[in-house]
Amino acid sequence: MSDKMETIAVLTSGGDAPGMNAAIRAVVRTGIARGLKVKGIKKGYAGLLAEEIFDMKPRDVSDTIQRGGTILGTARCLEFKQPEIQAHAADICRKHGIDGIVVIGGDGSYRGAQALSRNGINTIGLPGTIDLDISCTDYTIGFDTAVNTAMEAIDKVKDTSSSHERCSIIEVMGRNAGYIALWCGIANGAEDILLPEKYDFNEQNIINNIIENRKKGKTHHIIINAEGVGHSQSMARRIEAATGIETRATILGYMQRGGSPTAMDRYYASIMGAKAVDILLEGKTNRVVAHQHGEFVDFDIEDALAMKKEIDPYEFEVAKIL
Ligand code: ADP
Ligand code: F6P
Repeated sequence: MSDKMETIAVLTSGGDAPGMNAAIRAVVRTGIARGLKVKGIKKGYAGLLAEEIFDMKPRDVSDTIQRGGTILGTARCLEFKQPEIQAHAADICRKHGIDGIVVIGGDGSYRGAQALSRNGINTIGLPGTIDLDISCTDYTIGFDTAVNTAMEAIDKVKDTSSSHERCSIIEVMGRNAGYIALWCGIANGAEDILLPEKYDFNEQNIINNIIENRKKGKTHHIIINAEGVGHSQSMARRIEAATGIETRATILGYMQRGGSPTAMDRYYASIMGAKAVDILLEGKTNRVVAHQHGEFVDFDIEDALAMKKEIDPYEFEVAKIL
């Protein structure tokens, strides 16, 4: 572990998320305000290995806080799982005078951060994912924007669905996590919510529910389906055949991952970015910044990765009642 911090770097890794630019901006400006040199690394760990490393000044992050995506770019870099590649990456950091790195990404990116830390580069992770599926934190950068984007889109689909008295299956992102689906389920007043964590494969229940609701005079039936459950098109065909009610599938897709971040994502990401720099300056490494019980905190990455997070059964029950 290096004890004097002169130069830090920042990278984004894994899926991009609205608010990542606010975090990058906070790292750059806080770092420079604290007397550090700050470097940007393009395209995650792939860019680190390719030495796509450049100096960043406060003006380089002007006019970025409102932009979606990540100005640094992001990438998946499978070879970073290899110990000799990780050691080589740490050598590259030393070659460029980098004493500490802030990694903005999800659980996979934290494992890369752990590896850099093991190899002597002080590393801090920030939770960047629209999926909200990082166990140690109740907030992840990008979720708020993504869930609001999905909610607005679902409202629109619901309008036309009601006019045509159709059933709509709307698929939202979340390959392994149903948080966007759960939140939209409540926020959009959906009739059914399918989450990868809770899916019981009993389509007949949904079909019965649709028939019952139609008998009661409901003109629409909105099913929010998480990507992790998937198969929205074929499900729509089966539901239409079983109910006789026109059924359409809409897959919202990547529109949920783009767009200008909400105030919450700009604010939280900014505080987290600043905190990451201050933690590095305290000489800490192998930590992840989180938000828990109303406070910004940090955890050892090993402990953070060992934590478990589940869909709250009470919230899921409320979603079903409402
Ligand atoms: P996320 O960070 O959003 O969870 P990924 O799981 O795709 O996204 O991980 C992002 C990147 O982190 C990977 O492309 C790889 O470069 C790095 N990574 C993932 N798992 C590991 C690991 N076990 N060891 C080292 N690096 C990893
Ligand atoms: O960023 C999170 C996420 O959007 C997941 O919901 C989804 O499963 C995954 O990324 C898909 O990302 P990509 O298509 O870029 O691999």
